[in-house]
Amino acid sequence: MVYAPGAAMPLSRGAPERWRRVLGTGGSIVQFDNVGLRYGTGAETLSDLSFSLREGGFYFLTGPSGAGKTSLLRLLYLAQRPSRGLIRLFGEDIVTMPRRRLPGFRRRIGVVFQDFRLVPHLSAYDNVALPLRVAGVEERDLAGPVGEMLSWVGLGHRASARPATLSGGEQQRVAIARAVIARPELLVADEPTGNVDPEMAKRLLHLFDSLNNLGTTVVVATHDLHLISSIGRADMLRLDRGELLDPTGALRHPPRRAEA
Ligand SMILES: Nc1ncnc2c1ncn2[C@@H]1O[C@H](COP(=O)(O)OP(=O)(O)O)[C@@H](O)[C@H]1O
Ligand SMILES: [Mg+2]
Repeated sequence: MVYAPGAAMPLSRGAPERWRRVLGTGGSIVQFDNVGLRYGTGAETLSDLSFSLREGGFYFLTGPSGAGKTSLLRLLYLAQRPSRGLIRLFGEDIVTMPRRRLPGFRRRIGVVFQDFRLVPHLSAYDNVALPLRVAGVEERDLAGPVGEMLSWVGLGHRASARPATLSGGEQQRVAIARAVIARPELLVADEPTGNVDPEMAKRLLHLFDSLNNLGTTVVVATHDLHLISSIGRADMLRLDRGELLDPTGALRHPPRRAEA
């Protein structure tokens, strides 16, 4: 595997400075109140989810296959509206928000999809550059940060490759690079290390850790206990059959009214 040894953490420079503090939300970036999600006419896939995530937190979401992790993340990154309940994101009610405002909200969220969703006709380089281009970064300012990011994930030599010619693990690393490069306010990653070896998983987690240190709130769905134990300050959320358990007490963070 080709790393750039000693390469600087790619997030340390190059990315646009565009932080907006979330004001008036009591430090919570996400708030769910009695949220339920039902696909079709069956039983609810997610029921009575009430919790808040604090701005700048690092959360692992665990639970058996089919527990609803991907469904919960899809609510978080606005790919899915809930069947009931209230969701506030960045201090605003996103359930009743007009559709035309959603794309602007989505740009503040970096997503690592479980199935990668790279743009098939674009090279690895252009996939990773995409969020910076959307944010209006000039072409001449792209090569540095995109090149460094590709090197960090061990793909400096594959910059011009199309997704179809990359392995599953390589595609996953491109997807991660794309999700973090513009330093989103919220990063949502769905089993982001499922296709890479343990050494690369550690390296990718280091990227999430650095992003979190820069202020991004991070939510990672994973089964990998090794990964979880490597971020000491992270909080654990556990989903079981559509209900959220809270083994470390992370969800009792204010402003939950239950605390009052
Ligand atoms: N688009 C969908 N339509 C119908 N059922 C779905 C859909 N997506 C997920 N489900 C169902 O919801 C449940 C939770 O799935 P998912 O959120 O993918 O769980 P996990 O990510 O924890 O494995 C499963 O029973 C799954 O079959
Ligand atoms: Mg899933």
